[in-house]
Amino acid sequence: MRQKIVAGNWTLNKNVAETKSLIADLKAQTNTSGARVIITPSFVNLTTAVEAVAGSNIEVAAQNMSQHDSGAYTGETSADMLKSAGVNITLLGHSERRAYYGETDALLAEKVDKALAENIEVIFCFGEELEERKSGKHFDVVASQISNALFHLGADAFKNIILAYEPVWAIGTGETASADQAQEMHAFIRKTLADKYSADLADSVSILYGGSCKPTNAQEIFSKTDVDGGLIGGAALKAEDFFGIINANK
Ligand code: 13P
Repeated sequence: MRQKIVAGNWTLNKNVAETKSLIADLKAQTNTSGARVIITPSFVNLTTAVEAVAGSNIEVAAQNMSQHDSGAYTGETSADMLKSAGVNITLLGHSERRAYYGETDALLAEKVDKALAENIEVIFCFGEELEERKSGKHFDVVASQISNALFHLGADAFKNIILAYEPVWAIGTGETASADQAQEMHAFIRKTLADKYSADLADSVSILYGGSCKPTNAQEIFSKTDVDGGLIGGAALKAEDFFGIINANK
């Protein structure tokens, strides 16, 4: 079901004490929007975070997950490990994973399959680079990122998938996509889903925008018909800013 969602991607930030402190600050804020609130602390702090969010509506997600169940895969974290820590949601395909760690569409398809098989909800991230937008290829790039990693799935799988459109040129740059650019791409994503599956399915999937989202620009972006919320980086690291964005998602 399509939902309002604001997710904070903490990336490589916050040690144990800082994780506890930010969550305490988040719990002191009031969510007047009714949106789902999700945070993604680092792996080492997931257990701390799950304990710290108790008694609130804040959900804890991982930033990544292995496609393997177990074995000699140094540095990896499995679906079972996440679930045993009380984590039932993961980001997959963030542009930083694609760019710095060589994650391909084919690998992401495997990770998506593993997560869904283990009942882990996926926030699937994708988006074009600056050169791709400048050369007018952004729609093709996004369509292929989505189809390569997701279009082998049956329609039912999308009940456990949230999409996050994050144009790479807007991530951490201060240059956000305009609300109209976000809407244009989100409408295109919904049409791509409708063409492959059905209009009903396309209308049931939550699609988040990410990239330099701030309390000052969130309301305009979230007001667009096909934007269901945001995936927030830098502004998710301060409780007031993050809740400014959450409460803009009316
Ligand atoms: P910023 O909000 O810092 O641009 O980061 C967006 C992002 O990549 C969240 O995953």
